[in-house]
Amino acid sequence: MTTAGNLCRLRMGVPVATPIGLREWKVAAAACRTAKEARSAFEREMRDFLGVRWVRSTVSGRAALYLALVAMRRSIHRNEVVIPAFVCPSVGRAVLKAGLSPVLCDVGPTGSGLDPDDLRRKLSDRTLAVVTAHLFGFPVEVENISSLAHSAGAFVIEDAAQAFGAKIHGRRAGTSADVGIFSFGLSKVLWSFAGGALCSNNTALSAGLDDVLGEVQTPGWLREWQGTAKGALLSLLIRSHHLGPVAAIWNGALRGKHDCDDFPCELCASSTAALGRHMIQRFYEITSVRRGNAERYAAALAGLEGITIPKPDANCEPVYLRFPVIVRDIAIKRRILSQLGRAGINASEMYTRDSYQALNTFTAGAARCPSAEYLVDRMLNLPTHCYLTDAEMRSAIQIFRGILPTRAPDHVAGMVGNPAAVCATSME
Ligand SMILES: Cc1ncc(COP(=O)(O)O)c(C=O)c1O
Repeated sequence: MTTAGNLCRLRMGVPVATPIGLREWKVAAAACRTAKEARSAFEREMRDFLGVRWVRSTVSGRAALYLALVAMRRSIHRNEVVIPAFVCPSVGRAVLKAGLSPVLCDVGPTGSGLDPDDLRRKLSDRTLAVVTAHLFGFPVEVENISSLAHSAGAFVIEDAAQAFGAKIHGRRAGTSADVGIFSFGLSKVLWSFAGGALCSNNTALSAGLDDVLGEVQTPGWLREWQGTAKGALLSLLIRSHHLGPVAAIWNGALRGKHDCDDFPCELCASSTAALGRHMIQRFYEITSVRRGNAERYAAALAGLEGITIPKPDANCEPVYLRFPVIVRDIAIKRRILSQLGRAGINASEMYTRDSYQALNTFTAGAARCPSAEYLVDRMLNLPTHCYLTDAEMRSAIQIFRGILPTRAPDHVAGMVGNPAAVCATSME
């Protein structure tokens, strides 16, 4: 196994839990043999939901990214792809799999998006594409990134793997750039046992993508049934909140593939497509629970010293996949995480020094990205999912209050703004 593979193995935890019950499992199992129809129905549903011209479904988000890059490479002969330095190593792995070289770019202060000044330094006549990511369900502006990238002759890919359904300026995340990619993996907004998707409004590029997709297989029936059985098992395990064993299974024995490892590139399985279509219909119900939990955290933690709560951009409707908190003192962050862990609350670090180093091993030279380095050391994410109980939320809040002092009241507004405004998002 590679060094990067070893590093990625250290990541633990699945702090997001999409509710999947017997009804959902039946939808997936019934579709196991319907192949193409299930996939086209899922793609139609997504097209309507996203308000975009062209959508195709794949086996994972990383496969979607890989396919987008292959299609782009066929139209422009360049070999570098600028990717965020604060993202999962699977993004870098997809770039390598496409035979291209990842170049790390620093990120914005919340971790989402790219730092435009660093992007200017990283763009060159070798840049094929720029990937910008919307993390923890917080969409960010892509216009400025697109105009920089386009003026250098590069494509833009919006990685909306963690922000399916979020909106910015009334448009769904993933639909403003040349290509958007999505994931329906376990730790995503909508889990459908597996799956990913690509969308585009660019006619020439989507035609090229259809050519590339025409060369890709669908998973065989054995893999499809195995995936459905594995999903059913995990959907039971995640209900317990005590995700240690689940994480171990997911990261090791059952998942068998890691963020740094090579991955299969296939079209979406029909069971996954049928389940994905069903889950899109539950999007508002699932998201409103996450939003309510995030509002509660924002109000309860706003008056505490020593933390920054990333504020979503104005005019955006986040989907609060997780609730990010930046703890300015690294030792205090560790204390909070350890107490949350002991209380059975599966907070995550999202990305760590190890995952950052793993991304760096994919690049030609070691990049210095100060914002990403600050965040890998200091950010933690609280779970917002529907299996979180009232007692668990109270206990999470109590842990923060027990460790961090309270700010003077006039300081609070200046530091984090009005907590109600932070979370005030209109959902349809
Ligand atoms: C930001 C981001 N991009 C891409 C991916 C890859 O998605 P998948 O796991 O479906 O391959 C992930 C998943 O972890 C992600 O969080």
